[in-house]
Amino acid sequence: MANPVVDAEYRKEIEKARRELRVLISREKCAPLMLRLAWHDAGTYDLRTGTGGPNGSIRNEAELNHAANSGLKTAVDLCESVSAKCPRISHADLFQLAGVVAVEITGGPTVDFIPGRPDSSSSPEEGRLPDATRGAAHLREVFGRMGLSDKDIVALSGGHTLGQAHRERSSFEGKWTEDPLKFDNSYFLNLVAGEKEELLKLPTDKALVADPALRHYVDLYSKDEEAFFRDYAESHKKLSELGFTPPGPARRLYVQGALGATIAAAIALSFCLIFYKRAK
Ligand code: HEM
Repeated sequence: MANPVVDAEYRKEIEKARRELRVLISREKCAPLMLRLAWHDAGTYDLRTGTGGPNGSIRNEAELNHAANSGLKTAVDLCESVSAKCPRISHADLFQLAGVVAVEITGGPTVDFIPGRPDSSSSPEEGRLPDATRGAAHLREVFGRMGLSDKDIVALSGGHTLGQAHRERSSFEGKWTEDPLKFDNSYFLNLVAGEKEELLKLPTDKALVADPALRHYVDLYSKDEEAFFRDYAESHKKLSELGFTPPGPARRLYVQGALGATIAAAIALSFCLIFYKRAK
């Protein structure tokens, strides 16, 4: 589908949606589910084919029925109540905004949000999201397909500071941290502390500790919450913009900047030629 036109009206609706989402997510205590919705819409991206990604396709029945998305219909339905009040906004933008607001209102870092994602009516095949029973090689394969790095894998896994697993959705059960509605670095503190009977560790969580290159970031984030917040905000923004080129001023400024630099280089070159000819 075509990119939405991001004019003043669209931006106004985005700010309205942000306010509506703050109220909705606080009232329903559904920050974890909203963050998972944003991640599952974006996490299907394939850099090579340019398919999948944060394009709202998770609302399509076929994709919503993928095993990995079990439980997310509730999140999509909750977002519909905001969509009804802000009808111009694409679902792709709305789902990503919901993820950003979920992190913000639970005490996490501010994640920069640029609107303008187009919606897609076609869904990727099942199986692009990570399988929680596998290890580091699988994580690198899945996140690498999206164009994401080791640092992104660990920082984004810190999203498990929120929420819990439900046996009927994923066959796993339990929460990762003592307070699943507080965004902090306790997920990493619990990872380095080792087994705690009452807390959950998926095989993919354990892989972050077992793999030396990934472990480097686990250690860093367990000791330095500021470093985690900084890297998380950066990786979350990347995830939310996979395959998306922000429209409008940011791009225009970039084009203008590039044009300005080319003209400046051409002028400098002409001066050099004049001096060179005079010197001869
Ligand atoms: C690294 C690979 C990942 C795997 C294998 C994985 C797997 C899972 C599983 C199995 C659940 C439990 C679902 C349920 O039973 O309700 C879950 C929940 C969750 N995941 Fe992940 N996840 C991964 C990465 C991420 C990322 C990158 C984020 C966000 C940035 C994230 C955010 C969440 C949240 C917030 C929940 C809790 C949802 C709730 O409480 O309803 N996950 N994940």
